[in-house]
Amino acid sequence: MKGIAILGSTGSIGQSALAVVDTHPDKLRVVALAAGANGDRLAEQVRIYRPSRSALAAERGPECLVEIATHPDADVVLFASSGTAALDAVLAAIEAGKTIALANKEILVMAGSVVMAAARRRGVAVLPVDSEHNAIHQCLHGRRADDVTRLILTASGGPFRGLAADALAHVTAEDALRHPTWRMGPKITIDSATLMNKGLEVIEARWLFDVGADRIAVLVHPQSIVHSMVEFVDGSVIAQLGVTDMRLPIQYAFSYPERWDAPVPRLDLAHAGKLEFEAPDLDRFPCLALAFRALAGAEGLSIVLNAANEIAVSRFMAGALGFRGIPRLIADTMDAYEREGGGPVAGLADVRAIDAWARAYAAGPATGVKSLS
Ligand SMILES: NC(=O)c1ccc[n+]([C@@H]2O[C@H](COP(=O)([O-])OP(=O)(O)OC[C@H]3O[C@@H](n4cnc5c(N)ncnc54)[C@H](OP(=O)(O)O)[C@@H]3O)[C@@H](O)[C@H]2O)c1
Repeated sequence: MKGIAILGSTGSIGQSALAVVDTHPDKLRVVALAAGANGDRLAEQVRIYRPSRSALAAERGPECLVEIATHPDADVVLFASSGTAALDAVLAAIEAGKTIALANKEILVMAGSVVMAAARRRGVAVLPVDSEHNAIHQCLHGRRADDVTRLILTASGGPFRGLAADALAHVTAEDALRHPTWRMGPKITIDSATLMNKGLEVIEARWLFDVGADRIAVLVHPQSIVHSMVEFVDGSVIAQLGVTDMRLPIQYAFSYPERWDAPVPRLDLAHAGKLEFEAPDLDRFPCLALAFRALAGAEGLSIVLNAANEIAVSRFMAGALGFRGIPRLIADTMDAYEREGGGPVAGLADVRAIDAWARAYAAGPATGVKSLS
């Protein structure tokens, strides 16, 4: 029996994770649950799964996440809360020797070097739940790092893949929330529409797999069947394919290094028909280029990008910023950070200071981008 703790149990990933537990009651047991503000749904989950601890961050503050993530009976801790609220909890779970199942990509974008250094020092596995990184983890299994030339992340292209640049100025949050292949929480769905989700994933891959940005590529694949690929020195490319169902990567992280049966439809390629691939359009979707710019610059630039993106997305969802204003607000905040000379990122205190500065800058009137379309 593996003890499972879930942070973000009331969200899209959290509920899929509980569905995985339902499928394997003989192998998995929920020992602790945490959520943000949805007390009714958390109470319902507590009634069904009877964890020995549960917590609502809105009531008990961020410290309760550390308590849930370090529960003595937890073997695997799934981080599926949105944003970066769980950073301290990830570090505490690593210190406590827990296996980390990580859906929460923003944590690695903000503090990838700190988190991965801690995991290496403690000898703790960080298993990716993000479907692309999970695919790469599967493709890399048993291979020598020296044999790898490139990681190739696939992207669905989002709901606006075929839209002309001018039309992008008029899209609304409601349009952006209609993702063609994945059903996800609102923040990641907007990020998928801007391609910032792929940008965050490029940065996540850089830290998870310790590979430079020059060896990470992105390929648009609208069917979302090939979840990602790895290219090796001899030119061979190994890909992982599967149906679009997040229960699969979640279960992989829970069962690793074993594989268990999964009650999902089998992949039927004859039925799927065509698999298409194309290069991403960085002019129409500049957020992806901004992520590569962040990795090429000072380490603090990724923190700035992540923080400014969270502010930009919430302003877009509130109707206070247009769709094309999202990359402009992020770029403007990154420019300002570079003008100020950037700061060193020696540890968590620096990470937090840069994050706070970027959030204040992106939210403040000084940017003058409130009316950008
Ligand atoms: N959905 C996907 O298919 C998918 C795929 C790959 C990666 N991810 C990543 O997984 C994470 C979760 O995504 P999602 O789609 O599941 O999001 P979601 O549906 O919006 O759920 C977010 C979860 O986080 C909780 N939460 C919010 N603020 C919190 C806080 N301060 N402390 C503790 N919990 C908090 C929410 O609780 P309440 O609802 O109770 O407020 C909810 O349970 C994100 O980092 C996303 O990038 C998601």
